[in-house]
Amino acid sequence: MEFYLNNKHFGIAFLLFLTVFSCKDKEDTSKEPLKKAVVYEMYQPSEMAGFMNAMYAYNQQLKSQIVAGETPTSLPLDLLKLHSAEMTAGKSRTENWQSFVNVFIASQKAIVDTLAKTELKERYNTAINNCLNCHKTECTGPIPKIKKLLIQ
Ligand code: HEC
Repeated sequence: MEFYLNNKHFGIAFLLFLTVFSCKDKEDTSKEPLKKAVVYEMYQPSEMAGFMNAMYAYNQQLKSQIVAGETPTSLPLDLLKLHSAEMTAGKSRTENWQSFVNVFIASQKAIVDTLAKTELKERYNTAINNCLNCHKTECTGPIPKIKKLLIQ
């Protein structure tokens, strides 16, 4: 029994030594590229801003499909990112944001709902108006750009 315990402890100590050693090894090799990445990231838009631009591009594509008489069926964006993506420093999920976000998500999903009764163009414009509703208070800069997405 005594021998078994001692042996086990030695084994654990040896494993710990290996772990510490290998972690250190990893840290050393990644030090340089990590520093460069941080400097570069300071000039990057926030995760949320990036996602907003992806939503913009997606809706631009929907608009041209709808105008061409096609019926869009795919929604490749994970809209739940709106609940998790990091925002630009100083921005946060305000009460107003919370009151618009789920309505917007539902309306964006409704565009590709082939069983929906409402006309496609109307469903699409409803989603874009929901972008605008949130933007009126949360981030007014892109409003003119978003308005261009509306189908007249
Ligand atoms: C629930 C609120 C809300 C909804 C809905 C919303 N946005 Fe935004 N949007 C924001 C906020 C807040 C920001 C600023 C994010 C940041 O800087 O981190 C933003 C930023 C943007 C930007 C600027 C990104 C950049 O490069 O700085 C664009 C463009 C944009 N949104 C387009 C859209 C479009 C198009 C839709 C609808 C498909 C939409 N938004 C729906 C709140 C919203």
